[in-house]
Amino acid sequence: MNDVGIESLGAYVPMYSLALDELARGRGVDPRKYRAGLGLETMAIAPPWEDAVTLAANAAAPLFEDGRVARDEIGLLLVATESAVDHARPVASFVHELLRVHPACRTVELKHACYGGTAALMTAAQWIASGAARGRKALVVATDVARYGFGTAGEPTQGAGAVAMVVSSVPWLLAVDFRRSGSFAEGVFDFWRPLERREALVDGKYSVDCYLRALEGAYDDFRAADGGRTVGGRPLPDVFRAFLYHTPFPKMAWKAHDRLLDVDARRRGEELDEAERERRVADSFASQVAPHLAFARLVGNTYTASLYVGLAALLDAAGERLRGERIALFSYGSGCCAEFFAATLGAGAGASPSGLAGLLASRRAVALEEYEAMRAATEPDASLRVPDGFRGRFVYRGSEDERRRYRPV
Ligand code: CAA
Repeated sequence: MNDVGIESLGAYVPMYSLALDELARGRGVDPRKYRAGLGLETMAIAPPWEDAVTLAANAAAPLFEDGRVARDEIGLLLVATESAVDHARPVASFVHELLRVHPACRTVELKHACYGGTAALMTAAQWIASGAARGRKALVVATDVARYGFGTAGEPTQGAGAVAMVVSSVPWLLAVDFRRSGSFAEGVFDFWRPLERREALVDGKYSVDCYLRALEGAYDDFRAADGGRTVGGRPLPDVFRAFLYHTPFPKMAWKAHDRLLDVDARRRGEELDEAERERRVADSFASQVAPHLAFARLVGNTYTASLYVGLAALLDAAGERLRGERIALFSYGSGCCAEFFAATLGAGAGASPSGLAGLLASRRAVALEEYEAMRAATEPDASLRVPDGFRGRFVYRGSEDERRRYRPV
């Protein structure tokens, strides 16, 4: 059975950031709530001349420029987003145009809240494995701008960014075990965004409960699909070298890991006293989860891209060390659908950086007032001059005759 998975990966975040301490000051909140309570330091802020299209194209462009993939090798272009720019024309179509991908290519936008990126990855993997790809590759991009209303509980958990992945039968970075994944779905209003609203609505505490219930359900389905092959009777921290979770805010990954290890122990009939259980979770979290949250702390929530921002962090910092090792991934999308799956790091893991560390280091911090002005603007200034330090390739230059227009920089 041939391996399928991620051959190369690129990531992108906008050039502006807001410190959570600055937001806390403006909102009259104890900054420790955001830092310790949610685990966040800064969040990425998209200016009015960036949107889901530019973020996606800016994440994927370097993959073509440095020869990691050729334009005529791509036969499937899937863009996952919940920040669509048009009700009919998909973000994938704009990205296809901007990147000048070969016309013989199926282009589709996928939506299922934050789960869309994983839906796209699994669809691409199955397209390759089915033989329909005829030797070609898929480009999967997860791209989003996370927006909540000013002064709402969700406001500190915003962010923006994209991750682009070339999926092929040469999983140089990560072989995805898509044949034995576990899914869970249920109809819930935990987080949603009515048509024509720019900001999401959320039932915050309920959304956390929904996420954790979905984790439990998806893990049970994974165990059933796996038939004991991967997990056997061993505790999960002995089975996987790392765990990546959908991360709306880093503390959520802690809650998820705590719940997962608890469920796993219960399913194996293991009885631990509370102190021993807490020690196991803390040790495993510190070495197998926390290091891979480094980018999430600085970027915030990137919805569909969030899990893959975690993958970028893992590949960049620990990829080489973990080559050949198995990791577990959990994807959650409100509404809801979730998936728990396993993957194995490839021989090229860690060899080519995602680009995120450099982008994060070169960002410009904005003050609260500047953030509020950027957020309030729906269209870029007509006289837009891209600021020095912009490291993307494309910008949104506004709408003409109700058609969105983009241009290379
Ligand atoms: N010092 C240290 N910690 C503090 C503190 C202080 N002064 N004040 C509060 N805290 C801690 C609290 O104890 C709490 O920690 P625990 O969760 O471990 O108990 C944490 O800070 C947050 O405090 P609250 O629960 O009181 O915060 P809140 O009511 O303002 O809401 C939230 C938090 C629900 C996550 C909110 O930010 C929100 O609605 N976010 C958007 C929704 C979201 O991200 N949901 C996640 C699951 S759904 C999903 O994953 C899909 C998606 O991407 C949206």
